[in-house]
Amino acid sequence: MKNVGSYPNTRLRRNRKTEWSRRLVSENKLSTNDLIWPIFIREGKNIKEPIKTMPGVYRYTLDKIEKLVEKAIRKKIPMLALFPNTPISKKDTKGSEALNKNNLVCRALKLIKKNNDEIGLMCDVALDPYTTHGHDGILKNNFVDNDETLKILIKQSILQAKMGCDVIAPSDMMDGRIGAIRNALDKKGFKNVQLLSYAVKYASNFYGPFRDAVGSKKLLKSNKKDYQMDFSNSKEALREVALDIGEGADFVMVKPGMPYLDVIKLVKDNFKIPVFAYQVSGEYSLIKNGIINKILNEDAIYESLMSFKRAGASAIVTYFADQMADKLG
Ligand code: PBG
Repeated sequence: MKNVGSYPNTRLRRNRKTEWSRRLVSENKLSTNDLIWPIFIREGKNIKEPIKTMPGVYRYTLDKIEKLVEKAIRKKIPMLALFPNTPISKKDTKGSEALNKNNLVCRALKLIKKNNDEIGLMCDVALDPYTTHGHDGILKNNFVDNDETLKILIKQSILQAKMGCDVIAPSDMMDGRIGAIRNALDKKGFKNVQLLSYAVKYASNFYGPFRDAVGSKKLLKSNKKDYQMDFSNSKEALREVALDIGEGADFVMVKPGMPYLDVIKLVKDNFKIPVFAYQVSGEYSLIKNGIINKILNEDAIYESLMSFKRAGASAIVTYFADQMADKLG
């Protein structure tokens, strides 16, 4: 770097001296417009069920959802992400429940979209909430079969679009799914439904609490390393993103978030597509437990979210969205 000056003529602390001056030179902003709020839904009536490994996060029955949606709209959160906790009795090896037009997600979509168009709804496309083995696709000889899984993911996407889903978010990491889903959506008349590709999704240890929340943790006996990315790689992320842009993704996700800020920046520096970050369940629980146990103070949440803006993320999926929207106003 040239022209940085030198001490004592240059004193960087001068610009930091007062609050108003710090405001003048601040480089990044976090606003409610940047937040996506994940919501866990479950069967039953009038239940708000705590998730042990995610203090402060709940599974809601559908009769409780309308209030949450109203709250999110009032706070101007742009989008919700819906995640179902499917009863074990409805799971099978093929994840058939994913294609049931009366499944939890479909009922939630219909319910929420009936009343409003003021908030976006995004849904995961993957089979893990529906399979008895907890994998995102269907197994052949203990290996998730890419092309057989694609056939089901296409149907799952079309069903979600029919029910009113605005943003289809494939999180399964099968090869070729973005193109296959885009083509199928277009053929069925859903050319304006957006596609958010979880293009860069790592086989991460930070998903544990989420798997508790959707009820797949105990079912999953192995890991997802043969489809999710190896966390020692970052150049491979660029190949994933390039392919998905070519196949028609409208935005791409990097996931998890904080351990992968370098990857967000790398993607942002190489492509002009909007990049979203997912501050996943394990990250949430670490920070939340830190606050509960008075090891951290609450401002750590804001700091953690600002790191995504610095890295170049357009939006952040975070379980803190609700709380953060209150703070940001
Ligand atoms: C499933 C999915 C996962 C998450 C979102 N969608 C878990 C996984 O791949 O095992 C994790 C989100 C979180 O941890 O908050 N395809």
